[in-house]
Amino acid sequence: MQQHGGDVIVIGAGLIGLSLAFELAERGAAVRVYDRGEPARAASWAGAGMLAPYTERITNEALLRLCEESLRDYPAFVRRVADAGGVDAHLRLDGVVYAAFDSQEFLSLQRHAAALRARGIECEVLDRAGALKGEPWLGPSVTGALSKKQEGFVDNRRLGRALVAACEARGVSVERSHSIAMECDARRALGVRTERGFIPGGVVVNACGAWAARLVGVPASCVPPVEPVKGQMIALGVPTGFVRRATWVPGAYLVPRDDGRLLIGATVESSGFDERATAGGIHALLDAALTAAPALGDFTMTESWAGLRPGTPDGLPVLGPTPLANFFLATGHYRNGILLAPATARSIADAVESGDVSRLETFALARFGTEGVSLSRMTHA
Ligand code: GLY
Repeated sequence: MQQHGGDVIVIGAGLIGLSLAFELAERGAAVRVYDRGEPARAASWAGAGMLAPYTERITNEALLRLCEESLRDYPAFVRRVADAGGVDAHLRLDGVVYAAFDSQEFLSLQRHAAALRARGIECEVLDRAGALKGEPWLGPSVTGALSKKQEGFVDNRRLGRALVAACEARGVSVERSHSIAMECDARRALGVRTERGFIPGGVVVNACGAWAARLVGVPASCVPPVEPVKGQMIALGVPTGFVRRATWVPGAYLVPRDDGRLLIGATVESSGFDERATAGGIHALLDAALTAAPALGDFTMTESWAGLRPGTPDGLPVLGPTPLANFFLATGHYRNGILLAPATARSIADAVESGDVSRLETFALARFGTEGVSLSRMTHA
């Protein structure tokens, strides 16, 4: 089906790599996915699954549009995945609440609401009574809230399982290998070498998330300037329905799960490939959550963990072709990988299938120049 011919090899079995593999397989391609770890672990497992481009206050217009397209795609995407593999990912698009705790922050929410309405986004400014009516667990010092109705969340761990099942049902092989290297000649990617030998591929895609700059065998001109940005998370055991909608408070977000867990995240730390949850990180999250909602102090902390987001120097993903013919990038999604999975899958599949990369110009590796970008110059908000 694709312009480049032959099998597609996707390196990285996170939500991005699996979504792309599923999309390509549905379009008739033969796809193999390789990962050093379990599929859909790493950041795909660690996140809270928030689908919230407006709450994230994305300012880059091209990125915001891609996020909006992906958010619109989500219901159909989750349905297609469930139809193929039989696992439902528990998508909930019933709004995300942003709570304010002083008059300045409330004013800023009102200004944000006006900007969103000018864009045609449905949102509701709630006064103190309205905020407490919607989310009674918020503390008495809440001054108001902004509810963005199109946003929500997906259970990202379920989505991972759903995508693995859907990929397998569509004939995708998802393989775990402790050594994975791309092989290429001067012009093109040839395939992948694992401990089991060489597997040729008509197209190779680097979907290695925070590890994308470390893929072995890639020429320097094709290495994306991606660095890990750690996010620590905790979970509390709360009665189901205690927190009704995903809610942001200063310094943290809280996302309920159907099984009674309340996820609280996330720190933003540049500490290399360190994946430990630390006392300092957990303290910061609990401090933010309990300041906003002292009632949470009564519940048990059931889990703590950390994941690595793939950060880039300008905060935008790196999507599309590289100087090597038939070698593509699908990485650098930073805080929005789960949200961007459907749109990334579609755009990269289009690029592989027809060579059309016009929609991906803003996200091209080429924006970093032929010299590339020094990884140490990267900064993260
Ligand atoms: N998407 C939220 C985070 O990365 O923490």
